[in-house]
Amino acid sequence: MKHTLHYPDGHTLLRNLNKTYPIVSHGKGVHLFDETGKRYFDASGGALVVNLGHGHAELATAIAEQMGKVAYVNGMQFASRAMEELSDRLAKLAAPLGLDRVTLLASGSEAVEAAIKFARQLWVDRGYPNKHKIISRTPGYHGNTLYALSASGRPHYKKVYGPLLSPVLTVSTPYGYRLPLSRSNDPDEILREYHEQGAEFYAQELESLIEREGASTISSFIFETVSGSSTGAWVPPKGYFDRIQSICKKHEILLIADEVLCGSGRTGKFFAAEHYGLKPDLLVLGKGLNAGLMPVAAVLVKKSDVDTMKAASQGFLHAQTYMLAPSMAATALAVLRTFEKEKVLERAAPVSVHFLSELKHHLHSLPYVGSVTGIGHMAGIEFVEDKAQKKPFPVSKKFAPKFVQHAQDRGLILWPNYGQADGVNGDLVILGPSLLMTSGESDECVALLKSAIETFEI
Ligand SMILES: Cc1ncc(COP(=O)(O)O)c(C=O)c1O
Repeated sequence: MKHTLHYPDGHTLLRNLNKTYPIVSHGKGVHLFDETGKRYFDASGGALVVNLGHGHAELATAIAEQMGKVAYVNGMQFASRAMEELSDRLAKLAAPLGLDRVTLLASGSEAVEAAIKFARQLWVDRGYPNKHKIISRTPGYHGNTLYALSASGRPHYKKVYGPLLSPVLTVSTPYGYRLPLSRSNDPDEILREYHEQGAEFYAQELESLIEREGASTISSFIFETVSGSSTGAWVPPKGYFDRIQSICKKHEILLIADEVLCGSGRTGKFFAAEHYGLKPDLLVLGKGLNAGLMPVAAVLVKKSDVDTMKAASQGFLHAQTYMLAPSMAATALAVLRTFEKEKVLERAAPVSVHFLSELKHHLHSLPYVGSVTGIGHMAGIEFVEDKAQKKPFPVSKKFAPKFVQHAQDRGLILWPNYGQADGVNGDLVILGPSLLMTSGESDECVALLKSAIETFEI
C-alpha cells in the first residue's frame, strides 16, 4: 500500500495538486507520525490550531460523552448545558474586557462574518443605518468566506475572487520590521524605533482615514490584536491600542478584535487583548478554542448591546445551522476545563520565554533570517534576500513554500506566508506549538528549525 497521496490519486480534492502528501497515522503531544512511522515536530499545530497537543485522550472522551447524549439540537429550539457552562466560563474569563455574551460558529471565517454583521445590525438598531463601512488592516487575515476575505489584507488570496469581493477601507498593520519610518536592520534598533514611534504613526493613519471617509458612515474597525501569519507575529507598538481606542471612541466606531489565531492562550494570556488594556466591543475566537478537535469559533459581545438588539429587532438576525450546537460547545468546554485542570497558562509561561529567546539567539545570525519576533507560544521568522537592505526575495523564487516543504521533509511542520513585505514579495514562517510543549521539546524545535535553515538552498 502506498503511504503518500499525490493528485490524481484517490478521490479527495487535495489542497495542492502538485504536492505529495504523507498520510498521517497519529500524534502524541507535539509530535505527529505518518503511516511509514516517520516522526514530525508539529511546530505550527497545523495552522496554529493544536493548542493542547495531539492524542489528548481526556479531551476526546469529554467531547464523545456529549456526542453520545444528543446528536444535535437547533439553537432556535433548545438550549444546552454544555453551551451554558461554556458561556459562563468564557464570560468569566472576559469579565475584565467587559464582554459577557457568547455565540458559537463553526469556523473563524464564519465568526468574523457574524461579528461584522452584529456590529452592522447594532448600528441599525441604535438608529444609525448609515454606519456600514468596515476598516481593516493590511497585511492581515480574517478568513476566506467572501466578506472575511474582503476584510483581509492578502492580495494574492483575492486575485481570482476580486469581482466577488466587497469594498473595505484599510490602514497599515503594525509591523516593526517594515515600519516605513525605519531604515535600520539592527533588531534592537528596530524594536526601539517601533515602540517609540509606531503608535503615533499608525494612529495618525487611522484618524486621517476616518476624517476622509466620515465617521458617520463607518461601523467598525477589525484587527488581529496580535498579527498572526500576516506579519509573522508582530505585537503592536507600545501605546497603540490606547490611541486606537480613544480615536474609535471619539468617532463612535466599534472595535472588533479578531483573536481567532492569537486568542485562547496563544500569547500567554487567554485573550491577547489583556496584554494591552484593550476593551473591544466584539471579540472573535477560533482555532485554539477547539484545540483542533472539532471546528468551533466564538463571538463575544456585550450584554448592553444585546439589550439594544432585543428592544429593536428581538435578537441577532444572523443564523447558521451549527450556531450553539452542543457538540461544538462540548469541545470548547473540554478545552477550557483542560486549561484550568492542567494549569496550561501557568505551565506555558516559562517555556515561552525560553522558546522565544532561544529562537532569537540561534536564528538571528543565520543566512536569510531578517527578523525573529513573537509573544507567548507564537513566533515569526521573516526571510530576506539581503539582510542589510531588508530586501525580500522576489515572489517567483517561492522561498516560503519551498522552505516549508524542505522543513517538512526533515520532520518539522511550519506555517508559511508570503507577500507581506510589499503586497507581492516577502517570505515568512510562523510557529505556534502546543502550549503544553516542554522546555526540552522547545529545544528540539529550535534545533530542527536551525538545521532546516542551514541546509536550505534556494
Ligand atoms: C486571525 C484569523 N482570523 C480568521 C481566520 C479564519 O479562520 P478559519 O480558517 O477557521 O475560517 C484565521 C485563519 O487562519 C485567522 O488567522
